[in-house]
Amino acid sequence: MKVIIALSALVSTAMAAVTAIPTFTLQAVAPNQPFDGMTLSLNGPLTGLNNSGTPLQFYATGADNYFTWSLHGYPIGIIDTPAVLVGDNALKFAFLSNPEQVSEKYGSRMMMDGWTFNMGRPSVKIAPAPGKFLGYNFEQRWYAFPGEQEGQWNVMWWDGSCCVTANGFPLKLKLIQTDARISS
Ligand SMILES: *[C@@H]1O[C@H](CO)[C@@H](O)[C@H](O)[C@H]1NC(C)=O
Repeated sequence: MKVIIALSALVSTAMAAVTAIPTFTLQAVAPNQPFDGMTLSLNGPLTGLNNSGTPLQFYATGADNYFTWSLHGYPIGIIDTPAVLVGDNALKFAFLSNPEQVSEKYGSRMMMDGWTFNMGRPSVKIAPAPGKFLGYNFEQRWYAFPGEQEGQWNVMWWDGSCCVTANGFPLKLKLIQTDARISS
């Protein structure tokens, strides 16, 4: 009897470990830029960089052999806030609730379910993990643009069309694990 109880306790511990979903934040990697090493934060629904913001947190949903992953803001509010790219050629990296209804005011395009996590080169293993870089559809076309305030940058994703304006600085976004939430 004792043995059975011990075993079932072990099994439930193992199951809890399996269903713990890691949460992440993103660190800017851009050697020699003033924002190198800063952690992404939110300015309303939009992501950006500064020295004082609360680190953005999110978790990913998908599967190891999936091509498409979704990102969701954390802690979870009343409604889900998925990560989206919204805009035209330069897309803002935002966490929007009800993106289908809300995204139009930021531009004509909205992309949300193709997040990828690379070590550097495209790989079939794209599950999120600390140290990987965030991409969309395997592309890491991230740029920081000076924001309205001194020492603040807006993070955007360029779609690859034509030329990036001269005031955009390329950067990479590295996943840093922050926490784990237990999914029910
Ligand atoms: C920057 O810092 C302030 C706090 O001083 C914060 O409210 C703001 O949202 C931060 N992030 C961005 C991207 O501007």
